[in-house]
Amino acid sequence: MPTHHSDLYHSGPYELGCGTDLVLGHDELSRRLEREQREKADAQIHLQRLSAEVQQLRAQRDEALRALELSNQNAMFQLAKAAEEKDGEAGQHMRRIGVIAGMIAEAIGCSEHFCELICDAAQLHDIGKIGIHESILSKPGALTIDEWKLVREHSRIGAGILSAFRSPVMDLAAEISMSHHEHYCGAGYPLGLAGEAIPLAGRIVGLADFFDSLTMDRCYRKAMSDEQALAMIAERRGEQFDPRLVDAFLRIADQVILARDSINEIEAICDLPDIHGDWWMAF
Ligand SMILES: [Fe+2]
Ligand SMILES: [Fe+2]
Repeated sequence: MPTHHSDLYHSGPYELGCGTDLVLGHDELSRRLEREQREKADAQIHLQRLSAEVQQLRAQRDEALRALELSNQNAMFQLAKAAEEKDGEAGQHMRRIGVIAGMIAEAIGCSEHFCELICDAAQLHDIGKIGIHESILSKPGALTIDEWKLVREHSRIGAGILSAFRSPVMDLAAEISMSHHEHYCGAGYPLGLAGEAIPLAGRIVGLADFFDSLTMDRCYRKAMSDEQALAMIAERRGEQFDPRLVDAFLRIADQVILARDSINEIEAICDLPDIHGDWWMAF
C-alpha cells in the first residue's frame, strides 16, 4: 500500500485499499484530468493558430499565382496583338472574335463562366501567326502551296506557345488555337477532326473567325457585305460549321453585327486599354 503522494501517483487510485487513500487518489485523478484538459485546450489553440497561418499562407500563394497568371495572360495578349499587327490588323479582329465567340456560346446556352472564358481565350486564336513571316502574311496575291503550308502551321505554333502556361484561359486558348481551322465535315486542318471530335470552343471560334474575316478588308480582297457573309455561313451549315452553331449564329446575327459595329466605333474613337474581363457584356 502506498504511503506517500508520489507513490499514489505511480500506483493509481484503483489500487488503493482504505477510504483516505481513495480520496487522495480521486484528487490526484481530477488534477491529472484538469492538467490533461489544459494541455488539450493549449494544443487546440496552437492548432487553430497553425491552421490560421496555413490559411493565410495559402491565400498569399493563391494571390501570387493569380498575379502570375494575369501577367502571363497579359504577355500573351500582347503577343497575339503583335501577331495580328503582322497580319495587317490592329487589335480589333481579336477583340471582335472574343465578343462574337462569347455571344455564340451564350446563344447555345453555355454557362456564364464558359462565355467569359471563351471571350478571353478566343482573342488568342491566331497567336501562332507570330511564327509566320510577314512577307507571307501580308502577301497581296495568292499564296504558293509551300507558303500556304507554312500559314497553316500557325494553329500548332499557337497551341505550343499557349500550352506552356497552365490556367483555365490558357488551356482553352491552346485548345482553340489548335482547333479553330477544323471543319465539321473533317476537311479542315491541322488534324482533320470532324463533328463533335472538334472541341466546342474551336467550332465556335472557327465560325466567329469566318464571319469576321469575310466582313473585313484584307490585303488580298475587299470586305464582303454582312448579307453575303451570312449567306456563305448558311451554305456551309453541316459542312464547314456545326449546324447547331450556325442556327444560333443566324438567330443572333443582328446583335452580333451591332456588337461588332460598336467595337469598331469605340476603337475608332479611342484606343481601348487591354481589359480582359466582362467589358464585352456591355454590348
Ligand atoms: Fe487562324
Ligand atoms: Fe482570325
